[in-house]
Amino acid sequence: MRIAIINGPNLNLLGKRETDIYGNMPFEKYLQELRVLFPAVDFHYYQSNVEGELINELQKVGYDYDGIVLNAAGYTHTSVAIGDAVAAIKAPVVEVHISNVHSREDFRKLSHVSGKSAGSIFGLGLKGYEFAIRWLVDRA
Ligand code: DQA
Repeated sequence: MRIAIINGPNLNLLGKRETDIYGNMPFEKYLQELRVLFPAVDFHYYQSNVEGELINELQKVGYDYDGIVLNAAGYTHTSVAIGDAVAAIKAPVVEVHISNVHSREDFRKLSHVSGKSAGSIFGLGLKGYEFAIRWLVDRA
């Protein structure tokens, strides 16, 4: 099965960005662990700091892939257009946030993605991606 992981702005800085909140591991390194954990999954990884590029990628994979794990990062809280893209596509989307967005600033409590997603995971660190993939694998 094919699963796309799409990460939004500043997640290319994982491992060196606010490590007290986001941890010390670069995402590419964590992706190697995911590939070992899920050998039967064909992973496609995409990261962009640009809102429109994230929408283009959602549209690109959203009709062919078996599932999408989306961390839209800061755009989660601002982007109606990313929420619309999630609603438009056919593949189930699991929203993931590394940090607990509900225990931080109030503006992080709003998500334009949650209501359009199959489910959401937040506050469990990078493990949230693993749990999201496990759910997508089990439902296939
Ligand atoms: C984040 C939470 C967002 O509020 C923040 O803007 C991010 C990362 C997370 O994974 O915890 O960039 O999506």
